[in-house]
Amino acid sequence: MGSSMLTNLELPSVVTVGLHIFETKPMLEADEIDRRVNEMGHDLAESYADRGELHVVTVMNGALHFASDLRRSIQAADPNLAITSDQIKVSSYTGTQSSGVFRLQSPPTAELKDKHVLIVEDIFDTGLTLKWLMKYFGDQEPASMEIAVAVNKDVPDRAADILGATIMHTGFHIPDAFVVGYGLDYEQRFRDLGGIHVLSEVEAAK
Ligand code: IMP
Repeated sequence: MGSSMLTNLELPSVVTVGLHIFETKPMLEADEIDRRVNEMGHDLAESYADRGELHVVTVMNGALHFASDLRRSIQAADPNLAITSDQIKVSSYTGTQSSGVFRLQSPPTAELKDKHVLIVEDIFDTGLTLKWLMKYFGDQEPASMEIAVAVNKDVPDRAADILGATIMHTGFHIPDAFVVGYGLDYEQRFRDLGGIHVLSEVEAAK
């Protein structure tokens, strides 16, 4: 977890997006994320070695950076593991509020049946997206289904309630704040920051 010693080198301390003004605060540095993703890659390579193959399904767009770093780390840790990849896009029926009602805007291109599927998501917030995806993927009868998320907003029991027996590999547990960077956006901005930063709204512009 980032300490208060972090300096905001890649993002100004105040940013304006449309009519909104935000203060920004660094939470995780790119190096720290890199180290953790490599560690996850090693763990996953070990865990999938006996299964012999791994099918990584990236939930676009937020997980794009995380998934490609993770796949590369897994493959570097085990050059013999057969890794295939696909991506999906999910959209919520309502605007900004998570309603739990989703639709696959772009479905998987490959069959999931009998595959060892790892769903890669950017963040676990309410968990409603993953809850819906777990049902959708589960219905396709994969040989196994696990989840990897870059960050989990640590709201007590939320993940446990939603995941049940499903294994989730978590990069970082973070406090419940709105964060951007490393794939995560606000209004499609900030996805390409190497680190993860908190955005807090300060005032509405006139
Ligand atoms: P859920 O609430 O766990 O279903 O998350 C739904 C989606 O909301 C995630 O995949 C993210 O794309 C987005 N999201 C949730 N929290 C944040 C955040 O702090 N920053 C940016 N996007 C977020």
